[in-house]
Amino acid sequence: MTVIRSVFRGCGAYLPERVMTNDELAKIVDTSDDWIQERTGIKQRHIAAEGEMTSDLAFNAAAAALDNAGLEPDDIDLIVLATATPDETFPATATRVQARLEMRNGFAFDVQAVCSGFVYALSVADNFIKSGQVGRALVIGAETFSRILDWNDRTTCVLFGDGAGAVVLEGQEGKGTSDDRGLLSTHLHSDGRHHDLLYVDGGPSSTRTTGYLRMEGNKVFRHAVVNLADVVREALEANGLTPDDLDWIVPHQANKRILDGTARKLNLPSERVIITVDHHANTSAASVPLALTEAVDDGRITRGQLVLMEAMGGGFTWGSALARW
Ligand code: COA
Repeated sequence: MTVIRSVFRGCGAYLPERVMTNDELAKIVDTSDDWIQERTGIKQRHIAAEGEMTSDLAFNAAAAALDNAGLEPDDIDLIVLATATPDETFPATATRVQARLEMRNGFAFDVQAVCSGFVYALSVADNFIKSGQVGRALVIGAETFSRILDWNDRTTCVLFGDGAGAVVLEGQEGKGTSDDRGLLSTHLHSDGRHHDLLYVDGGPSSTRTTGYLRMEGNKVFRHAVVNLADVVREALEANGLTPDDLDWIVPHQANKRILDGTARKLNLPSERVIITVDHHANTSAASVPLALTEAVDDGRITRGQLVLMEAMGGGFTWGSALARW
């Protein structure tokens, strides 16, 4: 049986120039480098410059992904941009990226699933490709969380950073087996009852302000480890695979302790987990493509390997995307 698979043709990433260390943060709030590193594994984060917007970060990552794929903007039919920090309430930040790329074809829109946004966006783009409606899609995760942080709240402001990552997906024929290159499956979940554990206390239809991120960190932590282990098992079972078959897990980079806890629950050796949270903190929808790009660029992820991406975020939302690179 012949099927259409969304094959990863290229990837790219962008981090703003300005680096903020834990020691710098300790001058703003009552915290320390030791506390942050021990509880989260984070050493530093990147902060967008004054006037540098989510679309700027997204554009840079998208241009790098196109370059890596050896393609031009007009080779792309669709842009799906995952973000919880759009430039403006509307239009979609994806259309700004489309304009900056001078892309005249296709269509562009945003997806909002907070830290799971990139996995959701991959799933959306994959379905457009599998249905035959588009041939190639640019999938971007980009965030400027520094703009929605309460810089007086030490329980949240130490955890997040700004960044962007992107991939180019291309429809190619496969045999319908797990040996095919490309996305093998995506699984998405949400449970809106957990709104109050992780949310932003503002928005155009409620307070007419942008608001700030609010979180009950330890409750989120407990849900994250359970949900992420479940969604990894779900993806493996759906494809008749076991944890041993996985070459790499590329998790949402929220906190090293969540990544370690999830790997332990699955009996997965930590050497097969890509961890980049130490140098860019939690960049929400950007974190999976940032980690993916780093591992591809440094030669860890190579063609033909089995890669499982997973994420969880506000909503709650969570999900996985299993791919043969
Ligand atoms: N520096 C120093 N102390 C801090 C601190 C900081 N930045 N933030 C919190 N504390 C203090 C708390 O006030 C508390 O003090 P108390 O015992 O005197 O009340 C103590 O540290 C422990 O707080 P707690 O929240 O129980 O710590 P924790 O071990 O759960 O770690 C997180 C806090 C936020 C690091 C952890 O819960 C976490 O990572 N949660 C998941 C968050 C996340 O990744 N969310 C995004 C998912 S997409």
